[in-house]
Amino acid sequence: MLELKHALSELEKVVDVAQLENFFQIYLWKKGLLNEEFKVMVDLPAEEKKEKWAKLSEIKTKLTQAYEAKEQYFKMGYINEQLEKDLIDISLDASKDIWAYSLLAEIRRDAEEICKSMGFIVEYGTEIVTKFENFESVNIPLTHPATEMHDTIYLNDKDASGENLILRTHTSSMQNYLIQKYWLPLKAVVPGRTYRFENMDASHDTMFYQMEWIVIDKNISIAHFKEMITKLLSALLHKNVETRMRPGYFPFVEPGFEIDVRYEIYNKETEKKELSNWMEILGAGMIHANVLKEAGVDSTQWSGFAFGIGISRLAAVRYWIKDIRYFTNGDLRFAKSFA
Ligand code: DAH
Repeated sequence: MLELKHALSELEKVVDVAQLENFFQIYLWKKGLLNEEFKVMVDLPAEEKKEKWAKLSEIKTKLTQAYEAKEQYFKMGYINEQLEKDLIDISLDASKDIWAYSLLAEIRRDAEEICKSMGFIVEYGTEIVTKFENFESVNIPLTHPATEMHDTIYLNDKDASGENLILRTHTSSMQNYLIQKYWLPLKAVVPGRTYRFENMDASHDTMFYQMEWIVIDKNISIAHFKEMITKLLSALLHKNVETRMRPGYFPFVEPGFEIDVRYEIYNKETEKKELSNWMEILGAGMIHANVLKEAGVDSTQWSGFAFGIGISRLAAVRYWIKDIRYFTNGDLRFAKSFA
């Protein structure tokens, strides 16, 4: 019978992956020595067969374990070797030459400062949310086409009720949470990453930054909203802007609007100032009674508005960037040109 000690000493001598493969072929492969011995046993008398079979099985287990440990050892060696080769020099001086502000971070910070000065709470929330938070809590039933409209990215992990978790498709997913956490009156903003299964182009990305504003108080009207949005956009875009409201549909508001902006630009050719085209910049509306009800708010007493802006879009307008993918592709030439 094959001797375990001998086989192990052979394994000991193995020094590289090729020799290990050779060892496998000789001993452990289906046509190797071990399996040959199992085959021979088929014709033995039952008692003898049982005994030898058990012995040989034990040898096989031990040898396989030793083989696998050695294989692992070689694999780790390989990984370490690769790591050595790919070594990043973390001692590299983070001097002025290699850092640059992120324009998105800059505009987000600006927005946060402006909002705080207007008495808003800033909360970031989580990027992984439940379907309830993202859809149902803001009046989008799970059967609603909007759940597809967003082209949501689903995760394998599940929430407490067994539903798959998702990556939030909008920062409106925080509305319900914010109302419950801070109660009323409420003025809060949520800046953060949102995700959709989009085809990427100059103005769409699978990940983009949004900012959600929510205001609830007694006697809040569309007039409050219109005044606030015009001031806010002027501050954020560093220009005096004009805003225009058009009807728009979002399940979580009633009525809903889309807001366009325009501002003065200088035309180099005519050498005159003129107004830019209207540009769609955000979705907004008066918070739907169902959203308030879901959060336990009496909609006969309280009302409010909410709106969501794509921060990347805003930054594109502020810095005259034609393609929002520049913001996140890590090209230092782009980032440094704004340092
Ligand atoms: N959640 C919307 C989106 O991602 C944006 C939005 C529209 C937010 C209207 C709002 C709103 O709060 O009232 O497209």
